[in-house]
Amino acid sequence: MENFIAYNPTKLHFGKGVMDQLGKAIQEYGKKVLLIYGGGSIKRNGIYDKAVEQLKSIGVEVFEYSGIKPNPIIEDVDEAAKLGRDNDVDVILAVGGGSVIDSAKIISITIPVQHSGWDFYAGKAKPQTAIPLISVLTLAATGTEMNPFAVVQNKETQQKLGYGHDLLYNKHSFLDPENTYTVPRDYTAYGIADLIAHCLEAYFGGGEATLSDKIVFAILKDAMEYGEALLDDLENYDLRANIMYDATMALNKITMHGRTSGDWGVHTIGHCLSMLYDTAHGASLTIASPAWMKYHKDIIPERIAFLGKNVFDVDGVDETIKAFEDYYKRIECPIRFSEIAEAGQTKDEVLTLMNQNKVQGMCHALNDDARTQILDLFW
Ligand code: NZQ
Ligand code: ZN
Repeated sequence: MENFIAYNPTKLHFGKGVMDQLGKAIQEYGKKVLLIYGGGSIKRNGIYDKAVEQLKSIGVEVFEYSGIKPNPIIEDVDEAAKLGRDNDVDVILAVGGGSVIDSAKIISITIPVQHSGWDFYAGKAKPQTAIPLISVLTLAATGTEMNPFAVVQNKETQQKLGYGHDLLYNKHSFLDPENTYTVPRDYTAYGIADLIAHCLEAYFGGGEATLSDKIVFAILKDAMEYGEALLDDLENYDLRANIMYDATMALNKITMHGRTSGDWGVHTIGHCLSMLYDTAHGASLTIASPAWMKYHKDIIPERIAFLGKNVFDVDGVDETIKAFEDYYKRIECPIRFSEIAEAGQTKDEVLTLMNQNKVQGMCHALNDDARTQILDLFW
């Protein structure tokens, strides 16, 4: 087992009606609130009204920034940070999925400075302080509600990158599974795929950590069992609750304890597809992940087979990869690029971006030849 630090300061409020405590939590941090949300789903499903009711109950001044896009962009981050800076806000309230909460995290460290939030990604700046962030999660997938990571796109540099810093933890996260009832079937499946991918990134990370492996297997089995059932019963509280908690646990660092790091090679490939074609994050991963495993089947056969034995009770590397592909098919996620391809998209442009961004994992390096082979395997 590798040395590790266990640290997670986020106060997680989980369950029915937890938003009733939102006002009280915000009140701890001040009187001026920057409210951030996405394209309007929270207005259609009533979550916006619930949040505003809480804000009114504590008599705070509210500044709103809406329109954060799925696969969020740095321009929105910088514009929202300017709004927060100009109005000297005390606290940020993010209401939405991973895109909204990730953007809010970078906004929280960009408000106190005079430069673009991208400078943190580019390694040109380090955050010294952050505006406190409180979130209401509306989509179970990323784990951003209880981790210190944020992923943003920069169209100019053609990069979709993750950034991690302890200042990015939410102070409070409110998770009411009922708030996810309106997530459509496809995004519900992409969320399940994303949490599965987070477990796999941890599992294929560095170092031997047997308990962390067993935690990965437990989350995977829970998510696969309840995820499939959920797609046929989108307003089932218990199923939504199980998947929501699975997603939080899949990337709140508990699966990383005792490892040098996760791998994240599959994510870096997926980010290229999202960058180029605005592919939903989870869908990009179900395309990249089986191909990544196929490429590695002669490199780490025992590790892949051990996963299959523990999760699906199958024997063998090919059987394991097939079991994952079959599962992704059952939840209607794509496993080949051709399933999401549109006219004019070429292998060359994907490969060029993958090579330009030196796509690879933290534990399993990939060179240009490996990237070409992986691309061939999912094309
Ligand atoms: O924009 P709105 O109107 O809110 O609609 C969203 C969006 O269209 C909609 N939605 C969210 N909650 C809903 C809902 N629709 C109906 N009812 C609800 N309750 O769903 C769509 C997708 O939302 P988005 O926030 O983009 O999805 P997700 O939560 O999957 O977040 C994806 C982003 O997170 C990043 C991804 O790369 C991607 O940019 N990730 C963040 C990570 C992290 N911070 O740790 C790790 C992940 O690996 C991932 O990279
Ligand atoms: Zn992910």
